[in-house]
Parts: sequence; structure tokens; C-alpha cells
Amino acid sequence: DAKRRIAPLLLDWYDRHRRDLPWRARPGEAPDPYRVWLSEVMLQQTTVATVRPRFEAWVARWPTFDALAAADEADVMGQWAGLGYYARARNLLKAARVIAADHGGRLPDTEAVLRALPGFGDYTAAAVAAIAFGRRAVVVDANVERVVARLFATSGKAAIRAATGAITPDARAGDFAQAMMDLGSAICRPRRPQCLLCPIASGCEARATGAPEAFPAKKPK
Ligand code: ADE
Repeated sequence: DAKRRIAPLLLDWYDRHRRDLPWRARPGEAPDPYRVWLSEVMLQQTTVATVRPRFEAWVARWPTFDALAAADEADVMGQWAGLGYYARARNLLKAARVIAADHGGRLPDTEAVLRALPGFGDYTAAAVAAIAFGRRAVVVDANVERVVARLFATSGKAAIRAATGAITPDARAGDFAQAMMDLGSAICRPRRPQCLLCPIASGCEARATGAPEAFPAKKPK
């Protein structure tokens, strides 16, 4: 049915239009879990344009979990300066120290074990499991939420999470998650979505209503 065609269509679009970002593996190469983790934490409250140079500077200074684990907290906080939400930086250092001490300097590769590390919420654990390790995880950020709300003409966190789970493929779950993010930022934008350019417009229930922007429904104030 139409919903089963979403992942292959979206992955095909991603293969043609993926953004080249410094934390993304080139096609055919294995992702670096350290870079995936760092980028996902930086991108939580900060735009791709702002993160890009800050990410490059950070990995030049501390290229591995072990290098970061050995850093002074004051240096880490200084390197983070300007990115906001400083608990993220403190948790990066805490997590790096746990990874160095308890996990041999390598990130655990399952969502459940990741979830127990400092700074790993539902989103980060799922995103890292999928993108760094290819695990089938349900990755829902603000962009994915909007895309899925429109695809299924639905609203509400629980419904959107269930629908995202229903269209997440077993293979290439990390590419699928990043394709949804790219689609949300480039095409399925909050206002004036570019449905004519959308690879999955034919299965989109919000588009069929004629008012895709109406989804997700705004919360009553
Ligand atoms: N936002 C959060 N994670 C991202 C990723 N991996 N690619 C693009 N945008 C993102």
C-alpha cells in the first residue's frame, strides 16, 4: 500500500539530494559514532548553519571519546561558549568519561544502553542508534514530527510516534531518519511546503486535504 512505498521513495530521494554535512558518512563509508553523537547533541537546540563550524573546531581539538574524556571541564565549557543550553556540554564530558572508563572508549551500539548515558534522552538514543549503528529506532525530532503529522493528517505526540514507527524501514534506518529531517527542513517546511518537489507527496493525507500547512494542528493556548 501507499505507506509501504514511503521509505523506498524517500531513501531514493535522499540518495540524490542528501546534504553533505561534516558528521555524515560518505555513501559506502561507516559513520563515526563519536561524530554522530556530538552532532546530534549540538543540533538539538542549534541550527545546522551554526553547528557546522563549531562541530569542525570541536573535533579538531578532541577527535575521540578518549580525547574528550581527558579534557578539563573549563576548556569544554569554553569550547561550547555561545551554543547555549550549557547542560549539553557538561553532559558531553560526563558521557565521554563514562564511555572511556566503562565502555573501552567506544559508544555502546544499542538504544537501551545508550539511553542510560548522561545527556541521552529518547531522541538522542534513537538518533545515534539509527545513524551510527544502523539500528531500527524511531527517530522523532521537530522536523520529523511535522512531516509525519502531514503524511497521516494527524496530531499529538503518541499518534505521530506510532505513525513514524509504522513507516521506519528495517534497513537504512539512519538514512531514513536523516532523509526525514532533510525533507522537513528543505521541502516540508512549516510554512509554504514545497509539495511539488516532494518525493512522497502522492501518499500525503494533509496534501490531499488541500491545506497541508494546517498540520500539525496548533496546540490551543
Ligand atoms: N538535525 C538533527 N540531526 C540531524 C542530522 N543528522 N542531519 C540533519 N539535520 C539534523
